[in-house]
Amino acid sequence: MIENEPEETAIPAKLWGGRFRKALDQRALRYTTSLPVDRRLFRHDVLGSMAHAAMLGRQGIIPAGHARALVHGLADLLANPPDLGDDTGFEDVHSLVEAAITLRLGADVGGRLHTARSRNDQVATDARLWAREALLQQLDALLGLQRAFCDAAQQPGLEAILPGYTHLQRAQPVLLGHHLLAYVEQLERDTQRLRETYARVDVLPLGAGALAGSSFPLDRAYVAELLGMRGGVTRNSLDAVSDRDFIAEHVAHLALIAMHLSRLAEELVLWSTSEFGFVQLDEGYTTGSSMMPQKRNPDVAELLRGKTGRVYGALVGVLTVLKGLPLSYNRDLQEDKGAYFDAVETVTDGLALAAAMIETAHWRTARMAAAADDPLIAATDLADHLARRGVPFREAHEVAGRLVKAAESSGRSLADLSLEELRQADPRFEVEAVGPRPEGLVAARTLIGGTAATRVSAEIGAARDRLDAHAAWVESARASLPTPERILAALG
Ligand code: ARG
Repeated sequence: MIENEPEETAIPAKLWGGRFRKALDQRALRYTTSLPVDRRLFRHDVLGSMAHAAMLGRQGIIPAGHARALVHGLADLLANPPDLGDDTGFEDVHSLVEAAITLRLGADVGGRLHTARSRNDQVATDARLWAREALLQQLDALLGLQRAFCDAAQQPGLEAILPGYTHLQRAQPVLLGHHLLAYVEQLERDTQRLRETYARVDVLPLGAGALAGSSFPLDRAYVAELLGMRGGVTRNSLDAVSDRDFIAEHVAHLALIAMHLSRLAEELVLWSTSEFGFVQLDEGYTTGSSMMPQKRNPDVAELLRGKTGRVYGALVGVLTVLKGLPLSYNRDLQEDKGAYFDAVETVTDGLALAAAMIETAHWRTARMAAAADDPLIAATDLADHLARRGVPFREAHEVAGRLVKAAESSGRSLADLSLEELRQADPRFEVEAVGPRPEGLVAARTLIGGTAATRVSAEIGAARDRLDAHAAWVESARASLPTPERILAALG
C-alpha cells in the first residue's frame, strides 16, 4: 500500500500498489476519480459487500467469524457513513468503502472483504442495484402521471368537447377525456419498456471477478438471492464486467419519456395562451415577468420541454462511451454514470411535475366548446353521410368541399344549412345531415379507439385496471430489494 499524498482525510486514502513506487499524481487523481459521481452508489456498494462477505463466510472461503464481523461492520458503516466528500482522496466509492471498513475492523478482517472480487464486477453490480431502484421510482412516477390523466379525463365531466387537431388545424371534435387518454397510451408504453428493462437489470454480475470468473468456490446464486436479484446470475464473465447495455437501454427509454413530456409541455404552453385559452395552469407552476406585470409564464412546462436536450445528450454520451470499447472492462466505462444519474433525475422530477400540473390544471371547457363549434368542423361527417348512402367517398368529399366553400364565402356554419341548401349541392342528402352538432359527431365514434363517451369511459376503466396491475408488480419488485437487516438475518 502506498500513502496517497498530502490530502487531509479522515480515512487515509491508499492505492493498491505493492508494485508502485509512488502515488498517483494529484492532478491525475482529480481527473480520474469517480467519487463525486459514484458516492451515490455508497449504499449499494455496502449492500453488495455485505452479501459478498456473508457468502465468503458461508462457503468457508474466509473464517466465519471474520465474515460475521464484516457484515455487521458494513451494516454499521451504512448507519454511520464515512466522509464521502470530493477531497477524501479516493479513486472511487469502492476503494473508499473498503478502506473505511478496514479502518474500523482492522486489516486482518477488512483486508479479506475483497477476496474473489474485483471492482469490475463490483461496479457492475452496484450500478444494477442502483438502476433497479431508479426504475421502480420512475415506474411509480409514470403510474402517478397516468393516474393524473385518468382523473383529469373524468373530472371536468366526460362531456367536455374540444376540436381535435391535425397539422394544428381544427379537424374533428373529440372529448377532452379522449385527448387526455392519448397521453395515457404513450405513458403505458413507457411503463412497459421500463418493466422489460428491469428484468434485464435484475441479474447479478458479481463472481465474474476482474474478467475471467473466479477459482474460489463462490456461491453466486446465494449472493443473487441475498441481493434479491430475481433473474439469477450473468452467464459470461467477460460480458458481465463490460456490459452497460442496461444503462444505454434505460437512457433510451428515458429519451422517449422526455420526448413525451416535451410534447405534453408544448401542448400545455400552447393551450395556456390567450389565443387558445383551453387551460389555466395553477399559479404554483407559472411565474411572473420581471418587467411585464400582466404576464403569467408557463416556465415549468417550458423547462419540461427544454430539459429534453440533456436527456438526449445522456443517450448519445453513453452510446459514444461504449462504441469503441474492446472486451472487457475499460476505465472509459466509468463515464457511464454521470449522465445516467442526471437523466434519471431529470425525468423522474419531470414526471412528478407533469403530474402535479395536470392534477391542478383548470380546464376551460367553455373555451374548448366554443372552438369545437367551428363552422366547418362537420365537413367530414357530411361527406360520410353521402358515402353511407352509396355515394363513392371521393365524390362525397367533393360535394362536402363545395359546401365548405359556400359556407365560408357566405360566413355561415355547415350546421346552419337547410335540407334544401344541402340538396342543391347533392340531392342525395337526407334530413339527418341537417344541423350537425359536435356532440353528435363525437357520440357517433363508438368503435374501439374512438372518442364516444361510452368508449372513453370504458378506456378509463381499462387504464385504471392496468395501473393497479403495474402498481402490484412494482410493489412485489420492491419487496425483493435488499436491506441490511435481511442480509444480517441471513447470517443466522
Ligand atoms: N470507478 C470505476 C468505474 O466506475 C470503478 C471500477 C474501477 N475498476 C478498475 N479496474 N479501475 O468504472
